[in-house]
Amino acid sequence: MALSLNTEQGLNALNLHKVPPLGGGGGTPIFITGTGTGIGKTLVSAIITEALHADYWKPIQAGIAEGTDNDKVKSLVTNSSTTYYDEVYKLKLSASPHIAAREEGDNIDLNKIIEHYKTITSKTLVIEGAGGLMVPLNENDFVIDLIERLQAKVILVSRNYLGSINHSLLTAALCRQRKLDVAGWIFNGGYQHYEEEIAGWSGYPKIASIPFTNNINSTFVSEQARVIKTSLLQYL
Ligand SMILES: Nc1ncnc2c1ncn2[C@@H]1O[C@H](COP(=O)(O)OP(=O)(O)OP(=O)(O)O)[C@@H](O)[C@H]1O
Ligand SMILES: [Mg+2]
Repeated sequence: MALSLNTEQGLNALNLHKVPPLGGGGGTPIFITGTGTGIGKTLVSAIITEALHADYWKPIQAGIAEGTDNDKVKSLVTNSSTTYYDEVYKLKLSASPHIAAREEGDNIDLNKIIEHYKTITSKTLVIEGAGGLMVPLNENDFVIDLIERLQAKVILVSRNYLGSINHSLLTAALCRQRKLDVAGWIFNGGYQHYEEEIAGWSGYPKIASIPFTNNINSTFVSEQARVIKTSLLQYL
């Protein structure tokens, strides 16, 4: 299929808007998850949000004293059309969300997140998860259960470090087992040849590779957004 560089045309051509609507915008949300915490989900979310002029939502944020991902993305994205939705759960403790919530006498309820999601009217929404797929949200549900409930398309982030092949393939195996709709991988950090290994073994394509930088700022994000846009539209 010939790809258009016009984001809206590209998304329509790729049927991104044609999945049964759950959210108020009627589109398929893009859920950013990956191999774990601190691997670059927020940076990648900012780049994708910028590339697609999408809206951004981090429904569950733990460790708010260290700053929120919503604020980070706001500071990195420069297009003026992006809407940033409020978190549903903002938890003080920097810990797994189920532990942070328990600490505050709260309990993360997926129904509450879904109800909130239904009020969101974005056509193209980037949702950032917490940690990786098997992070517990409460006594019964994990991040992967939230992805299923949201009927989201998944982008997997893998940071390049020794051991990332194992973490990446475990993540991919779970996605396959649960039949998630995975668009592909975005690798982050200094290039390593095992990006191709992970794509090959997992069967999910490499969408893009984000280089290491000493300067994470809005210029870097808009440059990377420009670089990955065509590939992103191809795989979404
Ligand atoms: N390509 C990169 N070059 C340099 N530093 C990076 C790069 N990607 C991420 N970092 C740094 O690594 C840290 C973690 O990145 P980020 O916050 O995006 O991870 P995360 O997966 O969103 O974490 P969390 O699970 O807490 O949401 C940040 O300090 C970020 O600035
Ligand atoms: Mg983050």
